[in-house]
Amino acid sequence: MADTYDLVVIGTGPGGYVCAIRAAQLGLKTAVVEKRATLGGTCLNIGCIPSKALLHASHLFEEAEHKFGGMGIGVSPKLDLKTMQAFKQKGVDGNVKGVDFLMKKNKIDVHFGAGTITAPGKISIKPEKGNATEITTKNIVIATGSDVTRLKGVEIDEKRIVSSTGALELSKVPGKLLVIGAGVIGLELGSVWRRLGSEVTVVEFLDRILPGMDTEVARQFERLQSKQGITFKLGSKVTGVDGSGKTLKATIEPAAGGKAEVIEADVVLVAIGRVPYTAGLGLDKLGVQLDERGRVKTDGHFKTSVNGIYAIGDVIAGPMLAHKAEDEGMAVAEILAGKAGHVNYGVIPSVVYTYPEVASVGQTEEELKTAGTAYSIGKFPFTANGRAKANDTTDGFVKILADATTDKVLGVHIIGPEAGTLIAEAALGMEFGASSEDIARTCHAHPTLSEAVKEAALAVDKRAIHM
Ligand code: FAD
Ligand code: NAI
Repeated sequence: MADTYDLVVIGTGPGGYVCAIRAAQLGLKTAVVEKRATLGGTCLNIGCIPSKALLHASHLFEEAEHKFGGMGIGVSPKLDLKTMQAFKQKGVDGNVKGVDFLMKKNKIDVHFGAGTITAPGKISIKPEKGNATEITTKNIVIATGSDVTRLKGVEIDEKRIVSSTGALELSKVPGKLLVIGAGVIGLELGSVWRRLGSEVTVVEFLDRILPGMDTEVARQFERLQSKQGITFKLGSKVTGVDGSGKTLKATIEPAAGGKAEVIEADVVLVAIGRVPYTAGLGLDKLGVQLDERGRVKTDGHFKTSVNGIYAIGDVIAGPMLAHKAEDEGMAVAEILAGKAGHVNYGVIPSVVYTYPEVASVGQTEEELKTAGTAYSIGKFPFTANGRAKANDTTDGFVKILADATTDKVLGVHIIGPEAGTLIAEAALGMEFGASSEDIARTCHAHPTLSEAVKEAALAVDKRAIHM
């Protein structure tokens, strides 16, 4: 293993490992430093991948319980949670091994241990056992990701009061699950446990779920989730959880203050957001500046306030999403290799992997209103889509927002089956500066759910065919 490099990346989540691969492809002598026992970061180990495995398995369980019969498939599903958890772990292991392979294939040195930047170009690595070693490098990329936001009065023990990490590991289906926060984690993991039999209540501070998503989509989503059995307490906050008894007792108050009530639960999931993770990096001493929310400050080229030190992913500003981290990883590697790396922050899709899925790219209707942009709307419901009808998956709609003057697509919001896959077409179109007319005139295969996107584009000009 070398001890001097062109680039050392600290953290091997989707930001860090992708950055390292791109740098190696461009001829930079590259190493990564990782303090977990496995590569892949939050996303592969305790985030995107395990949550999607459980969402997939629990969705099929629910389909088998409630929908297979109607298709003439007679089954009586029985939950074996241990095996379902093993299925999840197999998915995680497969992905993590894939990153191991890619490090070897690209001749990237992997140093396990906690990295501290002792000076620009110098990193000390402290493994779990043994002494620290030091490596030197021309450039450093910080890709240390994020951690769970804690809530005062609600002490996480990852057994009864859990973060997403503990919620992915439960060995028993909780009778009653109380979720704090109606964001992406609360709704995805709330869905998993509801499908497997929990009574789920979600307490949200705001008067709506999924803040940041298009309001019309979020309202429809709330209706569908309520129909599936999730109880929402909006405009409410949890002020404390008493864990002294057999069941947990959560005290809940209206967000604006008022009469408190107590809700009992077997498990409480704290899902009120994530915070950038910079502990132990030594940034204070180096003078690397953070912003008011503790995120590493970077310029348009991912450079921090100290020469030779760059940062990407959840630890800097912007949406905390794996694909955003990956694109930043590629861009900074290209910049360091003398190329023109770039991320288009206007076109970063985001997806909630519930059933139905929710997916969004570009601006919401509220954002367009606030900006004073004149826009046209084209909307098409899945009830009028042939494939959705055939599959009996008709909940939801596609909504396209286009500039009223130029017809350029400014935002696309989808709630419905496969929304997360359908949104890619919208992102691609927006990246190429497509108008809604471009999408409307593109031939879409029949019968596919993607025809709903074409019909929504036709609807911008009030000429949808199947409505
Ligand atoms: P991370 O993936 O957090 O990786 C950072 C790595 O740095 C970690 O491995 C950490 O151990 C390491 N590290 C930290 N400090 C040091 C140090 N000093 N020395 C050495 N190593 C260090 N996003 C999506 O886009 N889609 C999803 O479906 C999705 N699902 C999610 C589900 C859950 C439950 C959670 C919690 C998150 C989910 N996310 C999802 C968000 C996604 O996981 C993050 O946006 C993404 O992991 C950020 O990548 P990153 O490379 O910036 O950091
Ligand atoms: P979030 O930011 O999505 O949602 C947190 C919610 O908690 C918000 O609705 C907020 O108003 C609410 N809240 C905050 N304080 C509260 C309080 N005291 N009481 C009640 N409600 C409160 O954060 P979440 O769900 O924890 O996810 C963290 C990040 O992980 C997200 O930003 C997302 O980017 C990423 N993620 C992405 C996924 C995906 O892409 N499918 C899946 C899971 C996580």
